[in-house]
Amino acid sequence: MQRFPTVFVTTFACFFSVFLFLDNQTNSQDFQADRSLIAADIDRSPVDLVISPCGSWLVTVNQTSDSVSLVSLLDDRVLDEQPVGRRPVAIAQSTDGRRLLVSSRDSGELTRFDVENGKLKRSGHVHVGYLPYGVVLSADGRTAYAALSARDQIVAVDVDSGRVTAQIDTGRWPRYLVLSPDGTRLAVGVSGDLGISMVDTVERKLLWTERLASLNVGHLVFSPEGSEVYFPWMIYRRTPVTPSNIRMGWVLGSRIARIEAGDDPAWQALTLDPSGRAVADPHGIALTPDATRMVVSASGTKELLVFRRQGLPFQDHAHHDLIDRALLADSDRFFRIPLGGRPMAVRSLQDNRHVVVANYLRNSLQIVDLQSRQVAREISLGGPSAISLARRGEAIFYDATRSLDQWYSCHSCHYEGGTNAVTMNTPTDGSSLTSKTVLPLYRLDRTGPWNWHGWQTDLPETIAKSLTSTMQGPEPSQDDVQAMIAYFSELQPPPNPHQPSEPEIAAAVERGREIFHGSRAGCVSCHHGPELTDGQIHDVGTGRRMDRHSGYNTPSLRNVYHKTLLLHDGRARSLHEVLTGVHRPSNVAGTSDLSDEDLADLMEYLRTL
Ligand code: HEC
Ligand code: HEC
Repeated sequence: MQRFPTVFVTTFACFFSVFLFLDNQTNSQDFQADRSLIAADIDRSPVDLVISPCGSWLVTVNQTSDSVSLVSLLDDRVLDEQPVGRRPVAIAQSTDGRRLLVSSRDSGELTRFDVENGKLKRSGHVHVGYLPYGVVLSADGRTAYAALSARDQIVAVDVDSGRVTAQIDTGRWPRYLVLSPDGTRLAVGVSGDLGISMVDTVERKLLWTERLASLNVGHLVFSPEGSEVYFPWMIYRRTPVTPSNIRMGWVLGSRIARIEAGDDPAWQALTLDPSGRAVADPHGIALTPDATRMVVSASGTKELLVFRRQGLPFQDHAHHDLIDRALLADSDRFFRIPLGGRPMAVRSLQDNRHVVVANYLRNSLQIVDLQSRQVAREISLGGPSAISLARRGEAIFYDATRSLDQWYSCHSCHYEGGTNAVTMNTPTDGSSLTSKTVLPLYRLDRTGPWNWHGWQTDLPETIAKSLTSTMQGPEPSQDDVQAMIAYFSELQPPPNPHQPSEPEIAAAVERGREIFHGSRAGCVSCHHGPELTDGQIHDVGTGRRMDRHSGYNTPSLRNVYHKTLLLHDGRARSLHEVLTGVHRPSNVAGTSDLSDEDLADLMEYLRTL
């Protein structure tokens, strides 16, 4: 507490925060009462944070405890913790620091908090649905923009009235976004379209979508002038998974893109991977306030990457296989700080020297000193004293050091346990000539047999093979495999947000349900049970000459609306293509094809699964 005088500066925001902490001293009992709303022994798993304008407090978003924590940076204490929606993802802050907005994916809501007297006061709530990810606030704190990942749109929301004022199409799977310093441009990562979209917030329209072959676009930042955007992502290079291809950087690699925010999307990329010790799953990004340094969290390799921004060797093509040698040789231009756990969001402090990292698996905040190149302090947000079996499995799932030379993790392909928007050439199908879509891993213990051909009938073996063959990593222990099974058994798909409220659509869904379950379409003879699969292998006419196994394992149809590529080789790009192409009812169930109306109803139903 003696440190207070150091923040006695004259700006209002800092003055306010001094009051905030003084006040809190007298309120410690209320604080205890509030915190007990959230059980002490659950994992917090922070994924995002915002720092107050003068750096004396911050607020984190805790994904697995469905809560937000207010933390004092003056004495590294958690001052308050409040429940928020289900599976919170991101937090935004108004310029004066007082208004906060949190997006919660699984409950589809934006929750407003105000920071008052050392407390987080919940002051409003808007239901937006459709699995919101990133959220940003305009400088005056009055307009929020949220990315609706399941609706392929950005919504603008008037924060005071809670009214949605615009819906703007962005391309598929918008997740994180950033607003330009002047508020006129919104850059949005759209991994379902393998790129980034730029939205004009004045005209409220999409300007362009640029495809960079980017998987897993992470957080984004604008340059201080607002002319360009930087963001980390992973590139998939399409060659078969072999040790030499991995080592050349020809399978998966990590990049930072720099793209112009004007009308013409010119872009360049920086390759991040050193030979022998690659970078994986870059996610968070920040510039220091003086814009001299760029810092990126690599959550798969559990480290912070620190770059001198001036003279970074961005290249016109994303296809440089390994990091620029001159950059690697100069430790003032580039260095790596090990962090452990799963570092996610990274934000800068005003001193141009420290950054704060939200570390998911460590349930903590790490304050990293860029000068001494180490973690200066770590603040625990709370959590269990012992690590559960499922949490150990989750740690392996996100751990790229399990792969050959740490090039990628399970998550690099199975994004957050789900899928991505490319077909991939993995060895588990016995062939290096066939590429397949990535199967999601939700409730894996209930969806056997495994893989598209369904030739794997033993789950521990299937998982061990993913580690040794898809990842080309070391043989796992039995404990490791059991931990992963525990994790995948608990892993739930996001709730399907396509539950019709309008009567006409509800009626169409009802008609579609009857078609799906009736004898005309014959779908339920294979797609049935809670996961909508019979666990059998069928030849449905989709096989290819190069296949090593015959027939295909009926896939679960849960959340099928979300996929950008359908059927094992991604040949169909929409449900309509599946049901009018090779997987038309007359081909798979022996009955006649459906009328256009019936087909439309069936698709409405499939979207709700
Ligand atoms: C390079 C991308 C990639 C990586 C890395 C990867 N997978 Fe996969 N995974 C795939 C693809 C593609 C398929 C479908 C392959 C097939 O069916 O032949 C798949 C299928 C699976 C399946 C079968 C799922 C089902 O429902 O049948 C399991 C289980 C699995 N992966 C687990 C893992 C685990 C565990 C890891 C990390 C140790 C991992 N994968 C890493 C791409 C990847
Ligand atoms: C004979 C069993 C069988 C019947 C009947 C059947 N399916 Fe399938 N379905 C499969 C198999 C097997 C696949 C995987 C084929 C492939 O990818 O090559 C599949 C794939 C699909 C896919 C793509 C899923 C994905 O993740 O890519 C959809 C959608 C689908 N089926 C819907 C339907 C509908 C709707 C019906 C009824 C009109 C139907 N199926 C009837 C066995 C069946």
